[in-house]
Amino acid sequence: MIHNIMLVEGNRLMLEQLSSVIKNTQGVELVARFREAGEALGQGIVFMPNIILLDADNSNIINLLTEFRRVFPTASIICTGEKWNAESSNLCINAGAKCFLVKPFSSDELRDAIMSFSTSFADARSNVLTFFSPKGKSGKTTLIANLAMSLARRSGSSVGIIDADLQFGDMAFFFDLKPQSTIVEAARDKDFLSPVSLNSYFVPVAKKVSILCGTKEPSLIDKVSIPAFEALVKMARTMFSYLLIDVPAGFNPTSIAAAEMSDTTYIVAMLNGGYEVQHIQRALEIFKSWPNYQSRVKTILTRVEPCNITSKQQMEEVIGYPVEGIIPNAFLKVSAAADDGHMALDLDPDSTFAQRVNFLAKKIINYKQDDSDDF
Ligand SMILES: Nc1ncnc2c1ncn2[C@@H]1O[C@H](COP(=O)(O)OP(=O)(O)OP(=O)(O)O)[C@@H](O)[C@H]1O
Ligand SMILES: [Mg+2]
Repeated sequence: MIHNIMLVEGNRLMLEQLSSVIKNTQGVELVARFREAGEALGQGIVFMPNIILLDADNSNIINLLTEFRRVFPTASIICTGEKWNAESSNLCINAGAKCFLVKPFSSDELRDAIMSFSTSFADARSNVLTFFSPKGKSGKTTLIANLAMSLARRSGSSVGIIDADLQFGDMAFFFDLKPQSTIVEAARDKDFLSPVSLNSYFVPVAKKVSILCGTKEPSLIDKVSIPAFEALVKMARTMFSYLLIDVPAGFNPTSIAAAEMSDTTYIVAMLNGGYEVQHIQRALEIFKSWPNYQSRVKTILTRVEPCNITSKQQMEEVIGYPVEGIIPNAFLKVSAAADDGHMALDLDPDSTFAQRVNFLAKKIINYKQDDSDDF
């Protein structure tokens, strides 16, 4: 879909500057531009804009928004302002603007903004995946990090990770990050955020992969309420094609909220010769209250040796439920990767670990399976 933009900008120099940014942005066309909002309201309709960039540095902006929505009911309105200010951004969004962009913006920012509300585009592709473990130390953080990389590379689409293991999340350690902003700041600011501004709370770690890191201290868990967490997930799912959520072990308000909001919940357990099978079965019993649990709940076993189809089938029989994926014992690889700041996936791309992670990514992307011996 081509985006036909009408630009309304009171400042002449800014009008020129923004016009040239729009003209240099792929997938959008500048169909009309006005310095006076009144002129745009009177004459703009003949240009059939489907996006209106409206100068919000105007004391009358809320009334103007109402008028623009009345005259252009099918167009999306983006407010633009010289400074981002939580209060005015929120007022504009409440009055019907899709988002608030600080000007002058770049082509990338404009495209990100449009993508964030083109629901036909984002919603159709967004896939929210929660990784749940009955008990801790299941290998799920390792799996999420490696799977995110594989998903981004194979699909070419954007992948977001939310570390919602609110007390002891270690995704930031995993990627050796010292984030400025975390889920705590995002939850604090959630009422003033739009998908475009929430993006800056995510830390990019690779091409097309970024992370909203967990709390810096366990006591900060109180700063992330469940409604705030839910609002962040809702917003983030419009920003990424795949959203992977790491949650604390066991059933708790965070893991339940994340699972409820997900398209797929993976129960992840590490085979350690303990009671993992019983834990999976007990967790499944709880998820069975969902009417469609068989399509929404999948299991992944880690540290499976030998990591082959026979082991997978044996485990399916013991558990009494299909096993979506198996990951081999990769302790040495995972530790070596952590030591030199790499992903285990990359240390040895031909390893069984890499193959199994890539296979899971393929399944998520829904590749046609032509390798008949893959499992
Ligand atoms: N496939 C694997 N094989 C063997 N060891 C693994 C594997 N994946 C992860 N580990 C090791 O298991 C430990 C736990 O891994 P990880 O932190 O990924 O699990 P987790 O379920 O997220 O744990 P937590 O409950 O602490 O969040 C780490 O020491 C990690 O190196
Ligand atoms: Mg973890």
